Amino acid sequence: MASSSFQPLRFAVINDLHAQFAPKPSQPGYPGANERAEWMLAQFSSGGALAGMDFVVGAGDLIHGEDLRSITAELKAMRQRLKQLTVPFYPCCGNHEIRQAEGNPAYEAPYWQTYGKDRFDYAISAGAAEIIVLNNAGTFHVTAKRREQRFDRLKHMLGARPGVPKIVVCHVPLVAIRDRDILHRSFGFLSYRCLETEILDLIDTHGADVRLVVSGHLHISGMVKRHGVAHLVTAGTASFPHDYAMITVTSRTVAVEVGSLPRPLHNPASNIHGPPRYTRGFTDPKHQTPRTYLRGNPSERKFTVPI
Ligand SMILES: [Fe+2]
Ligand SMILES: [Fe+2]
Repeated sequence: MASSSFQPLRFAVINDLHAQFAPKPSQPGYPGANERAEWMLAQFSSGGALAGMDFVVGAGDLIHGEDLRSITAELKAMRQRLKQLTVPFYPCCGNHEIRQAEGNPAYEAPYWQTYGKDRFDYAISAGAAEIIVLNNAGTFHVTAKRREQRFDRLKHMLGARPGVPKIVVCHVPLVAIRDRDILHRSFGFLSYRCLETEILDLIDTHGADVRLVVSGHLHISGMVKRHGVAHLVTAGTASFPHDYAMITVTSRTVAVEVGSLPRPLHNPASNIHGPPRYTRGFTDPKHQTPRTYLRGNPSERKFTVPI
């Protein structure tokens, strides 16, 4: 019999805002990204549609940042902007926060100076579930020392609070959420998934409590299940289809719904898996139109995973 004191947990994951809130950005970013980032963050401010959430996790690339100077300025501006949120905010490191330099103290410094040294790999103990935040933002470029540390920390966090459902948040997906070779081509970077596959091995072998892994980075939305674990990727706000995730954990299920920004804020030309970056859009065997390739099928946008 379920305890009457059980409190469902509701939180949101936002990612890939690519905001450039600092004055005079030195690099061109995503057109309209600041306006969409403002809309997203306003939802967690007083009177916002998501102000009733227990907390929000920023799953990386909240800033655009291209070099140490712009990263430092944009993180500082983002920190100021986040003060207006009325729900707790938890960060997860993206490659644009550290320029892929995972394990390089110089490039990691602006992030920890903004969010704290304990905000690269950490757990949010949220009653109904344990949220494990892992930094894998420098996949392929990660130092050997950091790679080992990343593995050890994840293994430790997976072993804590045995029996409590766990949700992992990491910027780079652990699995390919489209046909692997087509996704590699459409994304155009080697980091279409986390290349250090020992992380996925850990989820497979030590992740008995893990129900969901949430990532960003690809700028498209989708979900695949592997050994009963749902691996969700949300597009984030900078690129079309401009998505975010809402997650509810009850005593029986983890329910996920992918939300989209209001249509007047959409800019289809901001997508990076089709025109204008490529002459035509992509499809794969399970996504037979460019639109479903970008947005995922309906079953990838709203689903539940049993506890
Ligand atoms: Fe991104
Ligand atoms: Fe990224």
